[in-house]
Amino acid sequence: MEEPAADAARLRAEIAHHDRRYHQLDDPEIADAEYDALVRRLRALEQAHPELTSTDSPTQRVGSAPSALFAPVEHTVPMMSLDNAFSFEELQAWGERLGRRVSGASFLCELKVDGVAVAIVYEKGRLVRAATRGDGTTGEDVTANVRTIATVPERLAGDAPALLEVRGEVYMPVSAFEALNRRQAESGGRLFANPRNSASGSLRQKDAAITASRELSLFVYQLGAMEGGPALRTHSETLDYLATLGLPVNPEIRSVHSLEEVYERCGWWLEHRHDLDYEIDGVVVKVDDLAVRAELGATSKAPRWAIAYKYPPEEQQTTLNNIEVNIGRTGRVTPFAVLEPVVVAGSTVSLATLHNEDQLAMKDVRPGDTVIVRKAGDVIPEVVKPVLSERPPGLPTWHFPRDCPRCGQPLQRLEGESDTFCMNVDCPAQRRARIEHFASRGAMDIEGLGERTAILLLDRGLVADPGDLYRLTAADLAGLDGFAEVSVRNLLAAIDASRNRPLANLLFALNIRHLGPAGAQVLARAFGSLDAVVAATEEELAATVGVGPVIAGSVAGFFSLDRNREVVDKLRAAGVDFGRVEAPTLPQVLAGRSIVVTGTLEAYPREAAEEAIKARGGKAPGSVSSRTTALVAGADPGQAKLAKALDLGVPVLDEAGFVHLLETGEVPAGAPATPAADR
Ligand code: IVH
Repeated sequence: MEEPAADAARLRAEIAHHDRRYHQLDDPEIADAEYDALVRRLRALEQAHPELTSTDSPTQRVGSAPSALFAPVEHTVPMMSLDNAFSFEELQAWGERLGRRVSGASFLCELKVDGVAVAIVYEKGRLVRAATRGDGTTGEDVTANVRTIATVPERLAGDAPALLEVRGEVYMPVSAFEALNRRQAESGGRLFANPRNSASGSLRQKDAAITASRELSLFVYQLGAMEGGPALRTHSETLDYLATLGLPVNPEIRSVHSLEEVYERCGWWLEHRHDLDYEIDGVVVKVDDLAVRAELGATSKAPRWAIAYKYPPEEQQTTLNNIEVNIGRTGRVTPFAVLEPVVVAGSTVSLATLHNEDQLAMKDVRPGDTVIVRKAGDVIPEVVKPVLSERPPGLPTWHFPRDCPRCGQPLQRLEGESDTFCMNVDCPAQRRARIEHFASRGAMDIEGLGERTAILLLDRGLVADPGDLYRLTAADLAGLDGFAEVSVRNLLAAIDASRNRPLANLLFALNIRHLGPAGAQVLARAFGSLDAVVAATEEELAATVGVGPVIAGSVAGFFSLDRNREVVDKLRAAGVDFGRVEAPTLPQVLAGRSIVVTGTLEAYPREAAEEAIKARGGKAPGSVSSRTTALVAGADPGQAKLAKALDLGVPVLDEAGFVHLLETGEVPAGAPATPAADR
């Protein structure tokens, strides 16, 4: 056991090192949860030995000292942090602390956007200075950088006060973060671990031209100081006022009247956080009444009138026990990490994807490393990076296999592609994956035919490809491990029932590279039968609306191979329905189109608008690109989306224009590009 003083000194040095990595270099070495654990250990030590407490301890500070790269800016009012709650009990405890001082408070729930805090000063309506939080007292001058952010007005709208200082969060939309990392990967640049780091790294550039090339955005959430503006009584009034000045205020703000309601809202956003194109790490609960706030005051670090309800972290650290590769149904080789099980965002993770050879080489994770694992929403967990400070000396680099670990044939990487393939169509791993996929829910939906049964059938030589499934008899299945009379009967009945699946399912079930369920649906409707698709030329396929050249080439190539035509023949002989096309319920006027919806529409809640687009054959992605047909903007539209649509010349429709588009498939004539004043 070390001396407590030495222990505290060591923890402080360690925390200082990680503060520098996070705040100065935007490249944290460890997961936030691990960092929090270090601070908690130090705090416990200080509580047990009060003589060790000092004012410069990280337990007493906010953020970290500003970097010397930027001129220092003294904040007129300190930029504080927020206290956290991790459970309903902790929220209630906060409420009780408030209750002693005030009663009947009404609260505002705001999203806790995960980015970088900034303070922006406007004098007579003109932006004059922007600074990061720094240590809360002194921040970094990032004025030139903040000026490049499209959603930050250079001049305030309307009757601006003589002086206004607003606080807010600069963030990077998730879609922009993913695009940036793709570009970084292509150019061999450094990858950012998450949108927060990329927002911070992009904002804190010496060269503001680099910031300008990154898609950053802003939400303002607090008034810092004001001279000459209207008298404001509540925080909601304040936010409304900031919005009238043209400042971007997050639309997802709700007024609530009890902590139960607060908790409900926190739970709702936990479920829906990934519907947003920006990351949130919790909900901020604030007392609305400004007089009550003044009465409550603040501790040295945080106001008493607000609390952050924090979500479980989506990143954790664990040990990487091994790296293995999976051979998929099309032969694609995907490396994955076998992890020491760890709870991330509420579920236990023991496997995580490593994507492909290039990603692996770039991350350079090795068996035996401590790694940061990330699991966001429904997305497959991934290994973000190794914690280099924890790497045992001499840990050998992991090399991507040259030969397929299942069939021993050489692996191939196609020119210009990042994926590696096992080209041996007879590879047992591929055969198994093909049978499994054929039987899966979105394909032929054969209940009871999963991975285990597929392995049994292949190992016994009962099937070689999906066409053989329909020849199976009760006698074939009777001796199989785990198959009693009832399960034999059930499996045969399930196989039999699958003869009548729609053509789109059948096409998807065949394992044609690049052909997903949506593409299969388009082909089914355009050609009407499997034989017509098989007979179609590549040009005919490519001429179909909604089928690009990649899918057309892949489908034509697939059916040009004898072995695939043989599977088709077996299916025909087995009486599988080749022509069941489900008529679209609505005219497919949006086939091949991509429509992005932002803000609130009156007649269409967000999900209904997206459903309406998809039901007409269109796509409804979350972000605007050069391929977007139109941006539909309701009330409180996403400013970044509007700005991007304007930059790319994508038409912007109001609700009436949207209805016209749904009915006719036509973008209304003269649909405006966003007027500059609305940006
Ligand atoms: S209010 C004194 N509101 O969370 C209160 N903060 O952990 C100032 N944040 O430094 C903060 N969204 O960077 C507030 N709606 C929101 C926020 C928010 C994100 C960040 C902010 C702050 C940190 C505290």
